[in-house]
Amino acid sequence: MFSPQGPSLRELCVQALSSVERGYDLLAPKFDHTPFRTPDTILDATAQALAEQGPFDRGLDVCCGTGAGLTVLRRVCEQGITGVDFSAGMLEQARRADPQATLVRADARALPFTGDFDLAVTLGALGHFLPAERPALFEGVHRALRPGGLFALPIGAPAPLTSLWHWAELGFDLAMVVRNAVLRPPFVMYYRTAPLPALRRDLTAAGFTVDTVPLTAVGRHRDGSARCWLVLARKPY
Ligand SMILES: C[S@@+](CC[C@H](N)C(=O)[O-])C[C@H]1O[C@@H](n2cnc3c(N)ncnc32)[C@H](O)[C@@H]1O
Repeated sequence: MFSPQGPSLRELCVQALSSVERGYDLLAPKFDHTPFRTPDTILDATAQALAEQGPFDRGLDVCCGTGAGLTVLRRVCEQGITGVDFSAGMLEQARRADPQATLVRADARALPFTGDFDLAVTLGALGHFLPAERPALFEGVHRALRPGGLFALPIGAPAPLTSLWHWAELGFDLAMVVRNAVLRPPFVMYYRTAPLPALRRDLTAAGFTVDTVPLTAVGRHRDGSARCWLVLARKPY
């Protein structure tokens, strides 16, 4: 799963025993060599789907990490792009990757923007928010968008019960429940807490109208269904 430039098992364990913010600070220099960075296939498919919804002026990448989503915004936004993350280490890497982007250190549960953006994206980060924290996240994105603005989130479709991924994700989440029951600070990262119906409900409650498109270029499950979907949440005029 990891290239030779990626983190060692020991480094990953130290990260997992830290808070989310500190964990990412530690992982930042090697993050792009891990499978946790959103893969290019998903970035390309997201950019293609968004190109059909655009053009957009200003874009925001929520939980930008080292800047994977900023590369999508660069392709579909005609004006400035901004990344927000609470890890200073990840933002430092994002700065190297895209020196022209505006980078803001802030907690995504209290986004410091009002009506500034035409497009917001978030990739690979929803598992870091407990379901009870999603309203604050989604309300902040809604506030950050201008009327008519779009919030786009690529999400994986649940793996079938017969697939190894299903059981690997379940095992990971159970290990996290145990870890967080006995250790402080918690490291909030769960694979299975953000299914599409719950996201649709929370986005609607935050004021969005919600649509989905399959990202079939990312691949299909054996039954032919798309492995990845793009959630398109529109702030009404
Ligand atoms: C798995 S990484 C994903 C990074 C990038 N979006 C990508 O797709 O490669 C998750 C990122 O979310 C950030 N993050 C997690 N919780 C956050 C919060 N409450 N506020 C801001 N950033 C947060 C972490 O610091 C980390 O950079």
